Amino acid sequence: METVVSGIRPTGNLHLGNYFGAVKNFLKMQNDAHCFFFIADYHSLTTHPTPADLHKSGRQVLAEYLACGIDPDKSVIYMQSDLPQTAELYLLLNMNAYVGELERVTSFKDKIRKQPNPINAGLLTYPVLMAADILIHHAAKVPVGKDQEQHLEMTRTFGNRFNRLYKTDYFPEPVAYNFGEALVKIPGLDGSGKMGKSEGEGNAVFLIDTDEVIKKKVMRAVTDSGPTLPNSEKPDSIKNLFTLMGVVSAPETISFFEEKYNDCTIRYGDMKKQLAEDMIKFISPIREKN
Ligand code: TRP
Repeated sequence: METVVSGIRPTGNLHLGNYFGAVKNFLKMQNDAHCFFFIADYHSLTTHPTPADLHKSGRQVLAEYLACGIDPDKSVIYMQSDLPQTAELYLLLNMNAYVGELERVTSFKDKIRKQPNPINAGLLTYPVLMAADILIHHAAKVPVGKDQEQHLEMTRTFGNRFNRLYKTDYFPEPVAYNFGEALVKIPGLDGSGKMGKSEGEGNAVFLIDTDEVIKKKVMRAVTDSGPTLPNSEKPDSIKNLFTLMGVVSAPETISFFEEKYNDCTIRYGDMKKQLAEDMIKFISPIREKN
């Protein structure tokens, strides 16, 4: 069986974007691969260096993983900091990671733009720690989203460099893995980009949100005054609502609203009410188990 590794940073609760972008993938993989899923608590220290509640949020994410269906009888679930060998490998890999290449990493450049001085060295070496997470298990596949591809490329670079330097083939090359079309980029409710915890209040729907909260958030989602010409192109905010329906609603429901959109009789209030209902149907069993 192939070895699969993936981690989630415990910087808050899981939301629908995490579920459909990552966790759903994990659920499928745990039946056909040797899976390691971990909570990347060290990684969260790179952006939240003095967290009051690191332990609490780690345990919370763990509870949510389990509630989603990650099965400890099938997969290994662990806390990154409980595997000290990762930190040791990180130290060794740092000896042949170059400052220049780390400074060119897109996620690093983005982060220092958002949080200027002082920039901690852990942020710079984030990809080295991620490489250690993956290489420590000799993983073949890493189920991650598009935004992590560059980090994975660096993992291959560091592993290959280690192999060359020490004349070994100790570390195999891991590749990013997802189920292609099954992976959807989940948009937020504010009509713009992706769902995220740092995008502002109300943009993300969390797996712990109560029915009331879900309803409120969805009803506030950005829309416009509706189409005026039949079969017109959808603006982003409306496309997003349809994408969200795509993951939680029945196909008949979606085609019903598609038709209404195309003949200009759509009422976004009705659509959002339906969307909220379907999200609640999806989330409430997970929330109950949590
Ligand atoms: N960098 C990943 C993220 O932000 C989290 C992560 C850390 C990870 N180590 C990993 C993912 C190893 C996969 C494998 O989403």
